[in-house]
Amino acid sequence: MPANDIDWPALEDAAKQAMARAYAPYSKFPVGAAALTEDGRIISGCNVENASYGLTLCAECALVGELHMTGGGRLAAFYCVDGQGNILMPCGRCRQLLYEFRAPGMQLMTTQGIKTMDDVLPDAFGPENLEETT
Ligand code: THU
Repeated sequence: MPANDIDWPALEDAAKQAMARAYAPYSKFPVGAAALTEDGRIISGCNVENASYGLTLCAECALVGELHMTGGGRLAAFYCVDGQGNILMPCGRCRQLLYEFRAPGMQLMTTQGIKTMDDVLPDAFGPENLEETT
């Protein structure tokens, strides 16, 4: 999707609204993520922690769940914020989650400006690698 077609302020707003719903009593580090799908939906998610700390769900986990619950498709653009509303880089595991559902040329708002999925997860393992074996 051309960069000009992406409403970054709307994504930022959706990410901040999601962050306000976070369940982060242990880390006290709420996170909100939002994405634009290729067909124009804005989806979002927040982190949901657990007393068994390692079971924490990152905001991106909820986001990819909502992607599928609202019709599936591919992610054209992504925005993630911390508790102050500042841009947050997705963790390594979540970059992999996002990679699975990336649209060609997917863009991410990062602390260093807009980057592509390939910029933030180069040489990635993905569904294509599994296709080679079938
Ligand atoms: N977190 C996310 O939700 N997404 C990320 O990409 C980075 C980390 C959450 C997990 C945990 O609840 C809190 O941030 C502190 O690590």
